[in-house]
Amino acid sequence: MSNLTVTREQVLAELNSVPMLPHSASRVLEISNDPDHSMADISRVAETDAILTAHILKVVNSSAFSLSQRVDSLERAISYLGKNVIVGIVLSYSLSALYDKPLEGYASQKGALWAHGLRTALASKEIVKFTSGKHYANVAYTAGILHDLGKSIISKFMDGSVRELISSVENGTAADFLDAERVLLGTDHCEVGAELAKLWSLPDSLREVIRYHHRPRLADETYRPLVYAVHLGDMISMMGGLGTGADSMNYQLDSTYPDYVDISEDQLTELWFAVEQEFNKTKSVLFGDEEGDEQ
Ligand SMILES: [Fe+2]
Ligand SMILES: [Fe+2]
Repeated sequence: MSNLTVTREQVLAELNSVPMLPHSASRVLEISNDPDHSMADISRVAETDAILTAHILKVVNSSAFSLSQRVDSLERAISYLGKNVIVGIVLSYSLSALYDKPLEGYASQKGALWAHGLRTALASKEIVKFTSGKHYANVAYTAGILHDLGKSIISKFMDGSVRELISSVENGTAADFLDAERVLLGTDHCEVGAELAKLWSLPDSLREVIRYHHRPRLADETYRPLVYAVHLGDMISMMGGLGTGADSMNYQLDSTYPDYVDISEDQLTELWFAVEQEFNKTKSVLFGDEEGDEQ
């Protein structure tokens, strides 16, 4: 493979130049990770950040909602949009530097990481209900948005190598795309994403999903139902080529998933349709009508 000069250390050093997550965003993530949180808790944190508050109000008053009156309080905005959409807005606001660029190394365009993350989020929060970790529904949504975070960091190191990465999967030199990343860079988007999660002090549950979403059987037992849910949610999200680009469907489904997720193939297919509908409704809220579904 080309690009042999890139080392794992160089890739990980890139994390030093990633901006810290705004305090309001880390608090919202922390709170939404608590199964007993309320809308008021989220509203209290969001209102400490004036730019975030203005952004949420702009979204709720946007054309995606045909409201008869302008919404001017955060609490009302949150009750209109629902907690999950609010978490999505907080993340889109605070991750824009990482998520709003094309992923050259995956041959995908601007918006693909968001669209894939949102589809995975919508699927994962439903799939987790079929596991013993039902209480993780909110976490599954957030984890779905964040699961491929590492791609935004490693993408530039893979630019120019996409074709080789794919053919190494096709000819069996690499077990899957993740393995191909590791051969090229000495690391992969899961490890790099998990390192970033550590740097940002994200909750352990989110870090575990980011680290093991392609290898759920290796996750810590406490979080395994959640990790399996996002693993399957990711697969659902990639069905029909709706991934982040060249790597789509070049990953393996962990055959042990039925040990953790009690769901039939028919139920998974139904879920795919429901996710597509929900995605089309939510994407206009988060990205406006024209963005967010590029491959
Ligand atoms: Fe991934
Ligand atoms: Fe993914």
